[in-house]
Amino acid sequence: MTKTEGFLKEAFAGESQANRMYTAFAAQAEKDGFPQAARLFRAAAEAEAVHAANHLRALKAVKATKENLRESIAGEKHEFKEMYPEMIAAAKAEGAKDAERSFNFANAVEEYHAKLYHEMMESLEAGKEAFPYFVCPICGMTVAKAAPEKCPVCGAKGSMFRKIE
Ligand code: FE2
Ligand code: FE2
Ligand code: FE2
Repeated sequence: MTKTEGFLKEAFAGESQANRMYTAFAAQAEKDGFPQAARLFRAAAEAEAVHAANHLRALKAVKATKENLRESIAGEKHEFKEMYPEMIAAAKAEGAKDAERSFNFANAVEEYHAKLYHEMMESLEAGKEAFPYFVCPICGMTVAKAAPEKCPVCGAKGSMFRKIE
């Protein structure tokens, strides 16, 4: 990896984080009764998303869909097999309850993501069926076609799930 590629990766990570951070700050500003500050946070969040997308393009990190699916499966597998188990153990050892819960939610859901990506790989060319996905707003649980009665990971009501078309 060249120095520039390393910087592009670093900048992509930073801009992506800023996008999510400003989005959360915007929600907080609404709650605090500062709608104009919320607008500014949302505008900056949008701009950081543009920066992140530009960096990613310069990295040439977006390949053809089959390859992107393969890479996504590998990433999700790494997360639920190696990354999160170590983080969960550390949070448990340090009594960091919120972190443990957050890591556990992600860990459980990444396994479903790997499965969904894998199924997509298999049916990519054959699949003509169109259906929505549903995402739990509490834990991120992701399911195809219909929301469950109750989230199998966190127990949230299925009616809370966000529909992705
Ligand atoms: Fe930026
Ligand atoms: Fe995931
Ligand atoms: Fe959930």
